[in-house]
Amino acid sequence: MSKIPTTIWLIEPHTEAKHEILRKYLDAWLPIITRWNGRVLFIDGFAGPGEYIGGKDGSPIIAIKAVLEHKANIKSQIRMLFIEADKDRCEYLKQKVSSLKIPSNIGIECICAKFNEMLTEIFKYIDEQKTKLAPAFIFIDPFGFTGIPLTLIKRIMRNEKCEVLITFMFEEINRFISDSKLWDSLIEIFGTDKWKQVISEKDPKKRIEILHAIYKKQLEKDAGIKFVRSFKMVNKINKTDYFLFFGTNNITGLKKIKEAMWRVDKSGSFQFSDVTYNPNQLVLFEMGPNYNQLKQILLKEFKNKSVSITELKNFILTRTAFRETHYKKQILVPMEKAQPPEIKIECAGKRIKYTFPPHCIVKFL
Ligand SMILES: C[S@@+](CC[C@H](N)C(=O)[O-])C[C@H]1O[C@@H](n2cnc3c(N)ncnc32)[C@H](O)[C@@H]1O
Repeated sequence: MSKIPTTIWLIEPHTEAKHEILRKYLDAWLPIITRWNGRVLFIDGFAGPGEYIGGKDGSPIIAIKAVLEHKANIKSQIRMLFIEADKDRCEYLKQKVSSLKIPSNIGIECICAKFNEMLTEIFKYIDEQKTKLAPAFIFIDPFGFTGIPLTLIKRIMRNEKCEVLITFMFEEINRFISDSKLWDSLIEIFGTDKWKQVISEKDPKKRIEILHAIYKKQLEKDAGIKFVRSFKMVNKINKTDYFLFFGTNNITGLKKIKEAMWRVDKSGSFQFSDVTYNPNQLVLFEMGPNYNQLKQILLKEFKNKSVSITELKNFILTRTAFRETHYKKQILVPMEKAQPPEIKIECAGKRIKYTFPPHCIVKFL
């Protein structure tokens, strides 16, 4: 399913936001993953031509530059596979890549094929050889919703050190959900037919919530992904276009994707809108995190209870939209200073005032 007939096309602001998340995440992922692994893999499964009208980079070039420009001087072997089904776009990408100077530890291949078929072939080979996929980051960025079966995501995520970033095309799914000719594709992407409940739902907001929740749950429960985070992209007519879903089994991966997403949306609502996007906006007027909201979440969970700093940090990281950097100075210090205090800190041994070492216990009063 391709909405765009030309080989290259104009970039939209939400695509740039998506690219910013990708680049920021790769900047963080590369030094971590290459520290303990001699070989790692990056797959861009719906690579596109590598360039937009006007010269902005597409995702393959962004990924290559993340490797080449990284200040960490990466020594591991990095294999980068760019899969693109459209022949002209694939050839365009090959040309673009051939103009870059690539060091010998980086192997780049542009493959003119379908993502699903290519990955199935790779896994068949891996199973025959009784080997394992190298630690991998797989970017799955289709125009539509065909060709990304949940069974494939599940197969990818069976490898402990693999991570996925998926464009979930909400708008297309929502638009075509009543067309029974597409139901097989929908069953394939969701791995269930629970989405059918949306057909009779009239409230557009509820339709978004339901489809988002079903896909998230399927990634967690069916594909077995430990941590799933999403980011909403709103198009220029103020409609939810798609969600970026990130999946990882590693808590550091979760930490790093939240950091990347918070950089793109500083309000922490995990969304980007083409309607409100203004490249000239002054930083002064940007909204910051709503710490009071986090405080209320913590009180709801822990009021009259005791919890260690380590547990509190894990709760914030895995169960809320907030980051692990959002709670000490912004919430615990003011709560401890309040008259009367709203928390009590208990530590074995001495503690420097207004510090919160991991072993200390917070009592929410
Ligand atoms: C949204 S665009 C990719 C944009 C690119 N990832 C970027 O960010 O610059 C989707 C691309 O997937 C290609 N495509 C469509 N079906 C495909 C399939 N089954 N396998 C691989 N590529 C496919 C399209 O030709 C198109 O170039």
